[in-house]
Amino acid sequence: MLRFVTSNPGKVREAREYLPETVEQVEYDYPEIQSADLAEIAAAGVRDAFEEIGEPVFVDDSGLFIDAFDGFPGPYSSYVEGRLGIERVWRLAERENENERGARFRTVVAYADGGTVETFEGSVPGRIVAPRGDGGFGYDPIFEHRGRTFAEMSTDAKNAVSHRSRALAKFADWIAQRDESSREGR
Ligand code: IMP
Repeated sequence: MLRFVTSNPGKVREAREYLPETVEQVEYDYPEIQSADLAEIAAAGVRDAFEEIGEPVFVDDSGLFIDAFDGFPGPYSSYVEGRLGIERVWRLAERENENERGARFRTVVAYADGGTVETFEGSVPGRIVAPRGDGGFGYDPIFEHRGRTFAEMSTDAKNAVSHRSRALAKFADWIAQRDESSREGR
């Protein structure tokens, strides 16, 4: 069984679609270190969560990286969403040259079981546009990928291409390989 340390049940549903083992949600508010590197933040978080929970756990950390702002808000995405809101992020991006409005969602999944912490990264390219659509959450209405914003896509269509699903797919492959090697080792 895998324990996903998150307060977001939507993420847990998505993880269950990708991972071969049972996924249980654990609510534990681990401290987030300050870093420009998502993998470092996720790795520190999962180490802390493992120490607290004492069982194999994973966490994820995501952000929106906007080219014109040199990757900002990146690891500060949640703070910026809460303080400025996505409409104002769009208005800031709108002032930039159109071909500078490229962006990327990135997610790092980090897993700890007492051995080396493993991290898996997924990302999806897109561009920042005026808000459209009422689906999804967070920055979805201003993130366009192949002509549609994430907020205009069904959950399945978004999950098929999303940063989080790509990171989860890598994590799932790693689990499958690890289980296969441990079976062969028996
Ligand atoms: P967290 O890693 O889930 O805390 O997400 C950090 C920030 O990125 C929050 O502001 C989320 O709303 C935003 N975010 C993460 N994933 C997505 C997504 O799939 N769509 C839109 N916003 C997202």
